[in-house]
Amino acid sequence: MIVMSIGRVDREGPKTVCVIIGTRPEAIKMAPVIKELKRRGEFSVRVISTGQHSDMLKQVLDFFSIEEDVSLGVMRSKQSLDYITSSVLLGVGEVLDSDRPDAVLVHGDTTTTFSAALAAFYRRIPIGHVEAGLRSNDLTRPFPEEMNRIATDRISSWWFAPTELARANLAHEGIGPEGVSVTGNTVVDALQWTKEIAVEPSEPCMSGLTGGAPFILLTAHRRESWGEPLVRICNALVEILRRHDSYRALVPMHKNPVVRSTITRILSEDPRIILCDPLNYPDFVWALNNCGLILSDSGGVQEEATALRKPVLILRDVTERPEAVEYGSGILVGSETGRITDEACRLLGDRAAYAAIADRCAGNPFGDGKSSARIADVLSAAIE
Ligand code: UD1
Ligand code: UDP
Repeated sequence: MIVMSIGRVDREGPKTVCVIIGTRPEAIKMAPVIKELKRRGEFSVRVISTGQHSDMLKQVLDFFSIEEDVSLGVMRSKQSLDYITSSVLLGVGEVLDSDRPDAVLVHGDTTTTFSAALAAFYRRIPIGHVEAGLRSNDLTRPFPEEMNRIATDRISSWWFAPTELARANLAHEGIGPEGVSVTGNTVVDALQWTKEIAVEPSEPCMSGLTGGAPFILLTAHRRESWGEPLVRICNALVEILRRHDSYRALVPMHKNPVVRSTITRILSEDPRIILCDPLNYPDFVWALNNCGLILSDSGGVQEEATALRKPVLILRDVTERPEAVEYGSGILVGSETGRITDEACRLLGDRAAYAAIADRCAGNPFGDGKSSARIADVLSAAIE
């Protein structure tokens, strides 16, 4: 298989790198990379935001004190995949035509990731893919993210694989070894930095959760969860709380109206459930650190829970982060009400089983907090 391999980029003047982000998780995981590239002084770093997310992105950029050099502001209410794909492709293409960077960095598997990479590819600008090589090996789950990450890897020149498994996935597709580095996941860099700051939640709705009150943290937003699966997940939370009357639940709702309408319909009447807007990153990290159990279909939350040695019930049928499951922090439970309830009640009722998860979790398969430095080292050597 032929991959676009460029080796070194020879140039005059400062090394110009465009870092392209669009959604909340891309901003969280690229923030340490942006900071590290800027800190070194050898790169001219341009932060290009597609604005696939608006307020959820701003929340992260404000927290990490990152300013966008360009903001395309593409987000619309209930935007379609066609709309995001085409508007990001056109918008990023125009920016790249005027910036002509030496390299473009994209992250992960969103539509911003894929479309921005495609815009760079069309201009023969080399692409560095951060969080490369994740695979569920099922194009329908997560949808459309599995396609986005495969297609982005196919047209990249540098692959920053978070784990050895991700590197093996790339090798299986004929990618590397040249250009592939195992860096760890930059979410660990972001988390380590934030954990030190996240000592008290600032969000007023969380005031009742401080002082050791036990609570469950739930997040769900994936397209595959929309509709019936999300109904079953919400019903499971109601049932878990019915069986554990000392517990409350914190449910920061994604801004997606499709997700919010289901969650509010089922969970808004229960006084023990706190429904709120997306939390700022330090408040969410505080919640991860202090909750009794995490239920989530999020990709990033699986990694963060593992880094914090917290059990997470993964509300999906397959995961592209099997390291969390092998490690023992992640339990793949799908979206059936009975299965979620049984697993949650087993862990909440059996403190020994719960503690065994934390005990088993030594080290961290997702990294050591130095991923951004490794990525910067590679770019530094590759762009002369
Ligand atoms: C997107 C990504 C998904 C990623 C997730 C992270 C795609 C196709 N999906 O899903 O891979 O896991 O982000 O959260 O790339 N909205 C707001 N304000 C915001 C953000 C979203 O109101 O700040 C609403 C808008 O109505 C928007 C809708 O949410 O149209 C959906 O946003 P979109 O980015 O299309 O999908 P997500 O479900 O957020
Ligand atoms: N997150 C946050 N506030 C919230 C919920 C999540 O800051 O209210 C963070 C979380 O810590 C993780 C990231 O958002 O780093 C995950 O984003 P999301 O679940 O939207 O996307 P995914 O990781 O599934 O692509």
